[in-house]
Amino acid sequence: MSFIPRVVVLSGAGISAESGIKTFRDNNGLWENHSVEEVATPEAFHRDPRLVHRFYNLRRQQLTNGSVEPNKAHLDLAKFEQEWPGEFLLVTQNVDNLHEAAGSENVIHMHGELLKVRDINTGKIQTWEEDIDPGKQPTLRPHIVWFGEIPLMLDEIYRQLELCEVFISVGTSGNVYPAAGFAQVARRAERHEVNVESSQISTHFDEHWVGPASEKLPELLDHLRHRFMT
Ligand code: OAD
Repeated sequence: MSFIPRVVVLSGAGISAESGIKTFRDNNGLWENHSVEEVATPEAFHRDPRLVHRFYNLRRQQLTNGSVEPNKAHLDLAKFEQEWPGEFLLVTQNVDNLHEAAGSENVIHMHGELLKVRDINTGKIQTWEEDIDPGKQPTLRPHIVWFGEIPLMLDEIYRQLELCEVFISVGTSGNVYPAAGFAQVARRAERHEVNVESSQISTHFDEHWVGPASEKLPELLDHLRHRFMT
């Protein structure tokens, strides 16, 4: 059989934008006049757990009330994973569940997941679809990586980045490290960026697919299918 490259995909908020989930840089990064960073830190949670829970409860509700669905970019990526004869890993910075809803299987949520909570005393993680009320659940926190905390499964992510031969970054601004540095770690790979505009890290990519993810990601995946699977 001919050469089949190992593929690692990094997704960011831009892939879920067309499903109606706001990106972090929308509204100038503000939520009800708070900067997003202000509600996404351990300090904020310590200072005002009600505010932080309200922020995440609203986001969780968006996933459980049926108002958002995977778009063509999520769906085509899941289909690609099922068909691809080589190794495939999807690393997402997104905390929504749209990749799983689309059928993706080998997914690392490096910034955590909205539909999970963690007990601050025991560290126990569980699936959670309701609002959290700190009056009733004082020891639960969203299973989300906040600013100042270490992303999840980084050792495994770096190992896969060093091995991969194709690296795709889709819908991420390159503002937040370490994810913003992944293209440099994947130095053996041919590197593709999918974004509606130039990002902070565009110069680290070999090819740029400029346009909405729902259009450009399927084009890029077709290009890989034709090169390696026919
Ligand atoms: P950002 O909101 O920073 O960036 C979204 C990117 O998606 C931008 O570069 C947009 O140009 C691009 N974009 C928007 N719509 C698009 C579309 N339809 N198709 C393709 N691209 C599109 O989101 P992230 O880069 O994911 O961290 O943000 C990284 C991290 O910063 C997040 O995971 C979060 C945040 O603060 C934590 O929560 C720890």
